[in-house]
Amino acid sequence: MSINTAPSADHVAIIMDGNGRWARHRGLDRLEGHIKGVDRVREIVRAAPGYGIGHLTVFAFSTENWKRSEHEVTGLMSLFRRYIRGEAMTLHEDNVRVRFIGRRDQLDNRLDTLMKWLERLTSKNNGLQLTVALNYGGRDEISRAVQRIARAVQQGMLQPDDLSEGTISNFLDTAELPDPDLIVRTSGEHRTSNFLPWQSCYAEYVFIDTAWPDFNVSEFVRVLNIFRNRDRRFGDVISL
Ligand code: FPP
Repeated sequence: MSINTAPSADHVAIIMDGNGRWARHRGLDRLEGHIKGVDRVREIVRAAPGYGIGHLTVFAFSTENWKRSEHEVTGLMSLFRRYIRGEAMTLHEDNVRVRFIGRRDQLDNRLDTLMKWLERLTSKNNGLQLTVALNYGGRDEISRAVQRIARAVQQGMLQPDDLSEGTISNFLDTAELPDPDLIVRTSGEHRTSNFLPWQSCYAEYVFIDTAWPDFNVSEFVRVLNIFRNRDRRFGDVISL
């Protein structure tokens, strides 16, 4: 058997779907699925560097998720606070740098303060670059970037003719990050749901049926191998 020498993905982004269905199938409250989902986040964060991954981005809460019941939204917000408090020291010891992307002004002060604290605590770490998309929506991110660009033009700091793809990337929440190589969505849905639309232009997508609470390290390895077998051409011709 030939050895697959294709490069592994540097930046993997995950749409962690299926927590609610996983819980309902077991007669549990949807929040139980999210709680189990946190365990999976912990495992994948731990495992990722061992597979050559430098950047991991996870979609924790979308700008559309506010439509869910108050019980679920409140439960998720409290879970995020608990995750930060409970995991901060381990993440820091493991040299993980944590960033949050998404809209901050709609978040509860307690959560926002914890997010800023964790970002500051881990800001010098150069191991895994973990990004948590929280109250994130791609169109919202682009709209906020356009507002900032318009202000910069208004203040004379930027000329309209100088605007390039690179300028737009630099105004997004992900300015410091490379584009994702691989985007994984769990739980059988074949949608991208407003996740990193600008950044994902050349990403490979892998959609798998496994629900996020069942997405263990061997499932992770399985999707990384699917990625390695893809032929990425970035608009160039096929190499034979
Ligand atoms: C989608 O499943 C999942 C979410 C909206 C929340 C994701 C959150 C976690 C995995 C918990 C913690 C994350 C971090 C970073 C600490 P769904 O509820 O839409 O599932 P369904 O489609 O089956 O209803």
